Amino acid sequence: MGMDGVMVSEDEEPSGRYIVVKALEDGVVIMGLTRGKDTRSHHSERLDAGEVLVAQFTELTAAIKVRGKAEILTDVGKVASGL
Ligand code: TRP
Repeated sequence: MGMDGVMVSEDEEPSGRYIVVKALEDGVVIMGLTRGKDTRSHHSERLDAGEVLVAQFTELTAAIKVRGKAEILTDVGKVASGL
């Protein structure tokens, strides 16, 4: 069941919005965290310096966690991760 109460297919329904993560060092890890009561990491993606991930939030993915130095662009703005 989608957030608007409409049945959705088993496949993930992506939001129309994208986030962009650009790795500023090797070995940046982006983890996808599940939506709902249970928060677990269901996928991780490793980027090397200069690599860019363009992604959407979905029925399955409510949040992401970024480890390492990266530039993160979203609707709410731009932020840097890592020290
Ligand atoms: N399972 C959580 C949820 O659906 C995932 C989540 C959303 C989350 N926002 C978060 C986890 C912020 C940590 C921090 O609400």
